[in-house]
Amino acid sequence: MVIPAAGRGVRLGPGAPKALRALNGTPMLVHAVRAMAASRAVSLVVVVAPADGVAEVKHLLDDHALPERTDYRVVAGGDTRQESVRLGLAAVPEDVTTVLVHDAARPLVPVDTVDAVIEAVRDGAVAVVPAMPVTDTVKEVEPAEKPGAPEQVVATPVRARLRAVQTPQGFDRATLVDAHATVALAGEGATDDAGMVERLGAPVTVVPGHEEAFKVTRPLDLVLAEAVLARRRA
Ligand code: CTP
Ligand code: MG
Repeated sequence: MVIPAAGRGVRLGPGAPKALRALNGTPMLVHAVRAMAASRAVSLVVVVAPADGVAEVKHLLDDHALPERTDYRVVAGGDTRQESVRLGLAAVPEDVTTVLVHDAARPLVPVDTVDAVIEAVRDGAVAVVPAMPVTDTVKEVEPAEKPGAPEQVVATPVRARLRAVQTPQGFDRATLVDAHATVALAGEGATDDAGMVERLGAPVTVVPGHEEAFKVTRPLDLVLAEAVLARRRA
């Protein structure tokens, strides 16, 4: 499986790259790798590190205990998440047929969610996303005409049909490699891998997500993550 961890974490504010920030004293990336290694079906974890942080991430993983059965590799990432995933996929051995992609920024995903994704791929789905119902009403807006001008709402999708998708996302390896080789997206690139598979015209299957699989993005998310860890220890 591939863990993209090469982002800077701009929205979290100044400091170390997001994946290396501590949650209750342990780097977020270590929590994320352990969350994946908790599944007996995960045998190899490819961590995609910031290009200038490969050695540091290797040391970090060498220093933190993982289950015996879990092998890990560290490769350098790229400028976008999409590029980082592509580089990570290239380091997965050819004989692996099921690949998961999991954000380092979702360190607390429960093992049952990981296993549910793997099971759905093994049952024949080519792409699987864990997803949660959306609680806010979501609006589509027209970009503001000038910086600072108010945005205008163009549509309100029916909330009951919307899902917020999480990771790990699971794939038939050949399908994901094909998507990363052929789907080109401008600017920031794809923010999730299943979206690229959709562009190939392949079906994407939904399994239930989990509230503890939330993404650490803004400072308040760090507070929530540490509270979840404290609750687990209690
Ligand atoms: N990621 C990556 N390579 C990049 C950008 C992002 O591997 N060039 C990874 C991040 O490390 C993270 C995941 O993709 O685990 C999800 O991205 P996001 O939450 O957006 O993290 P960042 O890009 O680090 O945060 P920000 O967008 O606030 O800078
Ligand atoms: Mg980002």
